[in-house]
Amino acid sequence: MMIKPRLLYQSHQANRRLSFQERTLALSLPIWSERSVRRQLGSQKVKAKKHQIFVPRSAQVSSPLVTHETTETDDSFKVKAIVNVKLAKAGFLSSLSLDRRIDDIIDLLGKSLLLELVSSQLDSETGEEKVTMEAYAHKGKRREEWVEYVADFQVPKDFGEVGAVLVENEHHHEMYVDTILLHGFPHQDPIPIHCASWVHSKFHNPTKRVFFTDKRLYRGKWRFGRNRSYIPSETPGGLKRYREEELRNLRGNGEGEMKSFERIYDFDVYNDIGDPDKSLHLQRPPLGGRQRPYPRRCRTGRPPSDADPVAEKRVGRFYVPRDECFSEVKELTFSTKTLHSVLLILLPTLGRVIRDKDLPFSYFHDIDSLFSIGLDLPHSENLEQEKGLLSAVVPRLVRPINNDSSPSSPPRDILRFECPETINRDRFFWFRDEEFARQTVAGLNPFSITLVTEWPLRSKLDPDIYGPQESAITSEIIDKEIGGLLTAEQAVEQKKLFILDYHDLLLPYVSKVRKLKGTTLYGSRTLFFLTPAGTLRPLAIELTRPPMDGKGQWKQVFTPDWHSTDVWLWRLAKAHVLAHDSGYHQLVSHWLRTHCVTEPYIISTNRQLSEMHPIYRLLHPHFRYTLEINALAREALINAEGTIESSFSPGKYSIELSSAAYDLQWRFDMESLPADLIRRGMAVEDPFQPHGLRLTIQDYPFANDGLLLWDAIKQWVTDYVNHYYPDPVLVATDQELQSWWTEIRTVGHADKKEEPWWPRLQTPKDLIGILSTIIWITSGHHAAVNFGQYAYGGYFPNRPTIARTKMPTEDPSPKEWEKFIKKPERELLKCFPSQLQATRVMAVLDILSTHSPDEEYIGEKMEPSWGEDPVIKAAFERFRERLKKLEGIIDERNRNSKLKNRNGAGILPYELLKPFSKPGVTAMGVPCSISI
Ligand SMILES: [Fe+2]
Repeated sequence: MMIKPRLLYQSHQANRRLSFQERTLALSLPIWSERSVRRQLGSQKVKAKKHQIFVPRSAQVSSPLVTHETTETDDSFKVKAIVNVKLAKAGFLSSLSLDRRIDDIIDLLGKSLLLELVSSQLDSETGEEKVTMEAYAHKGKRREEWVEYVADFQVPKDFGEVGAVLVENEHHHEMYVDTILLHGFPHQDPIPIHCASWVHSKFHNPTKRVFFTDKRLYRGKWRFGRNRSYIPSETPGGLKRYREEELRNLRGNGEGEMKSFERIYDFDVYNDIGDPDKSLHLQRPPLGGRQRPYPRRCRTGRPPSDADPVAEKRVGRFYVPRDECFSEVKELTFSTKTLHSVLLILLPTLGRVIRDKDLPFSYFHDIDSLFSIGLDLPHSENLEQEKGLLSAVVPRLVRPINNDSSPSSPPRDILRFECPETINRDRFFWFRDEEFARQTVAGLNPFSITLVTEWPLRSKLDPDIYGPQESAITSEIIDKEIGGLLTAEQAVEQKKLFILDYHDLLLPYVSKVRKLKGTTLYGSRTLFFLTPAGTLRPLAIELTRPPMDGKGQWKQVFTPDWHSTDVWLWRLAKAHVLAHDSGYHQLVSHWLRTHCVTEPYIISTNRQLSEMHPIYRLLHPHFRYTLEINALAREALINAEGTIESSFSPGKYSIELSSAAYDLQWRFDMESLPADLIRRGMAVEDPFQPHGLRLTIQDYPFANDGLLLWDAIKQWVTDYVNHYYPDPVLVATDQELQSWWTEIRTVGHADKKEEPWWPRLQTPKDLIGILSTIIWITSGHHAAVNFGQYAYGGYFPNRPTIARTKMPTEDPSPKEWEKFIKKPERELLKCFPSQLQATRVMAVLDILSTHSPDEEYIGEKMEPSWGEDPVIKAAFERFRERLKKLEGIIDERNRNSKLKNRNGAGILPYELLKPFSKPGVTAMGVPCSISI
């Protein structure tokens, strides 16, 4: 649906007198372009000679200083609009393009942008929309990267308040419009409209863009500001149609392939992970649907694959709506750019350096050399450009090194990793059991540790397929490991027994994963005991293989023992569990529960909530760059044979496993921090405690810091929602809000739409709960699992992503057993990721852990629309103060020697939920959004 306001008046712009000397401008153009230029110039006199276009000077408007004949009269006043356009960094070639030169002519003609002012009020007599005012904007001043376009209007005095500006871009290229300033309206001068958006060329799409002014009645006075916030029922009459049409434009018609300039937000299933047209072994089943439930992604509309009609072709760029991608305007995409370079250039280069992709590290000091010596990147004529690019884009990883023996030779590029802070502090941190346990509450994946509430442990899987359900971890084993302090039953009763349970989730995948080359899998259970010191101690690991290949179920319990054989078996079992935890962390705690589930929230927010809606304004900062980074993940991270598939234990079933976790475990109502802690038995409700919760492990750094952050978010959201919904009934009657929540539940998360646990949205309290959860996921939850990835995973023996060999005790041949007995260290290194897998993952983790220089941290930046409203401004300032205080509290906690899970010799303090950070790899800082 196009926005086509009824136009009765024209501004005087078209008839104004222009006083400058007559001359012509000649531009050289290919002959085939002349028709296009003539079309632009309309009836203007144009001469063409030898592929040159001569534009009469009388047809040009080149200076904003020209006096326009708009005057103040009894029934009208003059208004000047200044549009600030930021020049795109499109590069030299682009600036020489034909369309650019035609656009230059258009600028000279003074018809660069067509603006229309829209009154927010209806005509008092007819009850219909007032006539819009239209004028062309011409090119004005240029300052570095900015260009002003200026338009003059003669506005009738009965026009009323301006509510919106429609913009039509007459150029052949899109333009990034940052602001529009309207000078001359009586109530405020100027009226700023902050657009911060790409405006497509009218030749791509004739629909005009609408930008709403921000004006609201506050305590009897009109207040202007960046973007108005109106719930739908309060929308001024003159803007209602524009509000609805803009949303229809953003929703699109569900047809066709998306083009790069479009702003359409729509849904689709994950059917572009595989690439069957390239090779049938890259075919992957679509995720999303009854068989493999999954959240929906942003629709790209590419044609179906030739080889597999349910898959989408992987051709061209992965579309994201235009305003989700700012790369040509600012250096805002530091993170995505660097990740893009690492995934698409560095990782393939590594494949050329380490040709045997299965080659293990021979010695531990070979791993250390990645931090001290590094890897020579190949020197090849056709790689020169890539090499220079890498050292420029990822200088932390790739550095040029001069050849000392031959100074005249060109410098070599070396991939050398920074030493992670964990290993800087304690070289053997990864080896210690207490550190293994500590990281379950203060490490990279604090979302898995769960209280044991039933004893003995039993599987819920079908015994006919997976074998006996009873765990091999018996009371006797636990009694012995606890050392007489308590019996297993007493430990359960007293809430002292905890588990990392990857048994029922992984066991169904064991048989098929074991058919893949270079990997293996078990179901696993790891038990921990909460010591009187408040720390966890690992007690036992159980690894299980289901019946397969004619063999019965195999399971074995490993314990931290004193005999050398048992010690090495324990280390190997730990490597398996760590690989399970690494996979679960990356695929579920990180990808699924933050990046993936948030995509439907973003799509629905843009499709159903007008940008004037206060809830759109609240959520918008929390969605920055997420669609773009998720598209990049589909392109090169979670795709068939991408980094995840080639480096994690489940191999090509990795992403499918996140679908299983979504199916079995994910519930929106359990995603808030308090609900998540209660669900895992890590907290119980207690109204007398500060957060209304009593933690099962008192010193649980993630939970302790997270609850302060959660409370701060919830209070801010409460203040915000209560301000805009003073009457509770307004939530239930807000049609946009209701459509938003319905679409999230039934379309974005379509495979879960029948679930009874979805929160209702009837009251401000319901809305506060929903919004706090979404904001927590995009900020605190994501930061907790993202920015410590290099600190904890950079030295991969601490968190191997894959365990490649089975345990030496599982049906060993005499030769296999002898090899283990003779050289157990070698067997551990063979079980760890290969050299290629390890270095690839290290490079990716380094980038994923990096804060870009333009990172926006939670509570840091006051959105202009919030600053315009004194109540919201004050609430945000209180929020910011709370977060600043949280910084100090976390520092204080890390200094407290009684808190042994975050303070001790060689221990990395827990800072992942400290709100602010400097750029780089810091293992702290909570950005507003999932931007990497
Ligand atoms: Fe992330």
